[in-house]
Parts: sequence; C-alpha cells; structure tokens
Amino acid sequence: MGHRIAVIAGDGVGKEVVPEGIKVIRSLGLPLDFEELPWGCEHHARTGRMMPEDGLATLARYDAIYLGAIGWPTVPDHVSLWECLLPIRKTFEQYVNLRPVRLPPGIRSPLAGRGSADIDMLFVRENTEGEYSGTGGRVHVGTEAELAVEVPVFTRRAVERCARYAFERARERRGRLVSVTKSNASRFAYVLWDEVVAALARDFPEVQVERVHVDAMAARMVLRPDTIDVVVGSNLFADILTDLGAAIQGSLGLAASANLSVEGRGPSMFEPVHGSAPDIAGQGRANPIGAVWSAALMLRHLGHPAEADPIERAIDAVCRDGRPLTGDLGGTASTSEVGDAIVAAAR
Ligand code: IPM
Ligand code: MN
Repeated sequence: MGHRIAVIAGDGVGKEVVPEGIKVIRSLGLPLDFEELPWGCEHHARTGRMMPEDGLATLARYDAIYLGAIGWPTVPDHVSLWECLLPIRKTFEQYVNLRPVRLPPGIRSPLAGRGSADIDMLFVRENTEGEYSGTGGRVHVGTEAELAVEVPVFTRRAVERCARYAFERARERRGRLVSVTKSNASRFAYVLWDEVVAALARDFPEVQVERVHVDAMAARMVLRPDTIDVVVGSNLFADILTDLGAAIQGSLGLAASANLSVEGRGPSMFEPVHGSAPDIAGQGRANPIGAVWSAALMLRHLGHPAEADPIERAIDAVCRDGRPLTGDLGGTASTSEVGDAIVAAAR
C-alpha cells in the first residue's frame, strides 16, 4: 500500500512550488497518493475559516502533509497562522522542526570566501511551545492603559524530547551540538533548558556539546559557519537563525523543513521555509528547490531513502550546473523549468 499525502499548497507561491515537488516524486514512480486540500486564505475568503472545522481530524487520517505556504495580505498573519499552520504543528506533536542549512555546490553564499564544504548545518527547532505557546492576552484594548502579555512557555518534557532528537542527529553526523539559549538574561526558561541539555549530554558521551547564547550564535554563523554541525534551539530563536541560515545557504528559496511528529502521534508535515512571497506570486518565478528538498525529507521520513537521496543529489547537480536556476539564484529559469531539470537529473 502506498502512503496517502495531504497536500496543502496554500497561498501565493505555495501553489507554484508544490506541484514541482509532486512532479519530482511522481517521476520516480513511487506509489504515493496525493490528495489536495484547498485550504488557506482563499478558503478563508469563501468560508471565514482557514480550513474546515474538522480539518485537523481530516489531516489525522493521512501519512504526511505536504505544505506550500500559508499567509496572504487579505488575512492578518496572526489569524492565518494560528488557524492553520500552528495548530497543525501543535496538535500532531510535530515537536521537531528540522531545517538543513547546507550550501549546495555551485551556489554562491553571501559569506565571502565560503563554499559548500564550509556550510553544512542541521537545525533542530523546538516546534510546539516556547515563544509560540500562545499564552497571553490584551486588556484595556485601544486605551492609553492598554497592556499586552505574551508568555513563553517551556516544559521539561518538550525541551527534553527535542534536545534528545538533536543529540541523536549529532551522534550520526559530525558529533557536535550547539544548544542555543539566552540563559544570561532569561533566568528561568533557558536555565531549565540548559539543565535539561546538560543532563542529556551524559547519555551521549560521544557528542561534544556547546552552550552558545543566541546573539553570539548569530555572529558565529556568519564568521565561523564551518564550526557548526547540529544546532538545537527554541521555537523563536531557531526560527530567526534559520532565516539567517537560509541566506547563508544562498537563498531563502532553497531552504527546506520537516515538522516531525517524531513518535508518530500524527502525520508529519513538510514545507519550504520561504512562505507565500506575495511580491513574486503568480509569475512562475519562485524557486521550487526548497519545496522539492522538503519533498525529499518527506520521502526519507516515510521510509523511502532510496528515492530521497537521488532527489537531493539532483538538486546539487542542478545547482552545480547553474543554468536552470530562478532569479533569486541569479538565473532566468521559471519555477517549472527548474522542476523539470531536477526531474531529468534525478533519473
Ligand atoms: C516558519 C515561519 C512561521 C514560523 C510563521 C509563518 C508563523 O516563519 O515556518 O519559519 O515562525 O514558524
Ligand atoms: Mn520563519
């Protein structure tokens, strides 16, 4: 039996890049069944909701979710995200957001003198709580006395399971883990984080762990990216650092992600990092590589490494060749031309 994939192309360039990922997977002849769910901001315009009331129950029946982008100027971002993307991540306990930051061969990093041998990091972002807990409120709205509180929430359980995953990946890779916090200014949450990581480190004697504050980490990624292997960080810190990572790896259009329900309590979700990009949407100019790379992460998660590997190699081949690339990478190719080139290279 093949796997059933829920496809939420969503908004903006999501609708342009997702078909490229599906095209690449189909070209490999895998028995995957893609079912499109027309959710997102247009659904909101029609129905007042980002997804149907039973949307999460519907998604629970699939083996994975392949998502393009959520968000469009017609719906406030905090509404579109809190009614679709974030509930999916939380409900299915997709507690790891895995983001490879790797500079493909042939792509120029904005970091002078750095090539693909220098930039190969793996970010493990806590994906269910922290600064995205949704805890807080506003009172005296619209008055001089207005007050807004947004409370980051950190639980030992969530930090532990995410950090454990990061240690495991570090053990398989180059054996180095950076834990990013801000436990000098934050006296409670990130001190708990540090304690949990220190305790786990005893179970992974083969992994060398460093504690680095987020401000110093931003500089380190720019100055000494070659010293970074696996990184674990909170929801917001790793969100910010992976946009920096995407820039360092050559383009936000290349960046891939996997929202992993590690214990399989629900489907995992695979999405490019770039978002709906209203400025270029509808023009066939979006870079599909982040979406295709995310599709490769999905195949690996579903137990098809023999198909995931060739897709990643095909991405590298297309980047090395340098000809069929989109504008963000200095090329002139269209979204579907890049998809076609990956299909050809993956064969
Ligand atoms: C991402 C995005 C989301 C996030 C937004 C759209 C809520 O920036 O996936 O990185 O912050 O997680
Ligand atoms: Mn982000």
